[in-house]
Amino acid sequence: MATVVVALGGSLLRPEVEERHDWLLGLVSIVRDRVAVGDRLGLVVGGGAPAREGIELVSPIIDDMNHLDKIGIAATRLNATIIREALADEGIPVSGAIPQEVSEAVEALLSSKVVVMGGTVPGHTTDTVAIQLAIRSGAGKCVIATNVAKVYEQDPKEHPEAKSFDSLTLDQLQSIVGPAEHAQAGGSQVVDPVGVGEAASHGLPLDILDGRELQNIRLALEGGDFGGTVVTG
Ligand code: UTP
Repeated sequence: MATVVVALGGSLLRPEVEERHDWLLGLVSIVRDRVAVGDRLGLVVGGGAPAREGIELVSPIIDDMNHLDKIGIAATRLNATIIREALADEGIPVSGAIPQEVSEAVEALLSSKVVVMGGTVPGHTTDTVAIQLAIRSGAGKCVIATNVAKVYEQDPKEHPEAKSFDSLTLDQLQSIVGPAEHAQAGGSQVVDPVGVGEAASHGLPLDILDGRELQNIRLALEGGDFGGTVVTG
């Protein structure tokens, strides 16, 4: 029995993937299995395509990053609602509303086995929300399910030869992703540097993995070898 928080990158719900219905069904089955063995799960869902689209649409008009962040937050809550409703419909004991703050989610996790939320306030991404929820709910670790296999020294799309890491310390991860600052609304790093800073100051371990392969998420929750990057204090 454990409490674990999972950040589900919004790109995992992306519209261009034919198998996305299977992905969602598979996620429901993982959550059902973890609840059956007594785990408590916090799922924090990213904004993905609707966040990018909304921020891009209004970017010629709005300069203020806080205002763009609010559009991203709305998209994360839309995606969180999709996941919450899917779980509820399958009879999984998930909390009733989407918490708007981490403290609300901590509270909800005391009475519900599963809590699903999106973003909270401007200035970071849902990775940071997941890390904050993990710290404040006493979770043993935070799983960051993204769309790359591992953490790379440099962006593998621009540098195909970039070295990848099976394990890192939180300080090493911070130096790869850069200082704990929110650089841009909708900006995508493998993990939000703001969240890495919070994880480092609390010694919270992170499992970073490719969430497109659901088996990786399942293995991380079971404590197995998930084939991504293990980040420890
Ligand atoms: P995401 O968490 O999806 O971040 O939030 P991301 O790194 O851009 O995208 P993924 O991880 O690939 O899905 C989308 C945007 O919403 C705002 C930020 O602008 C973020 O980039 N946001 C999100 C906040 O301002 N606060 C939050 O708590 C969450």
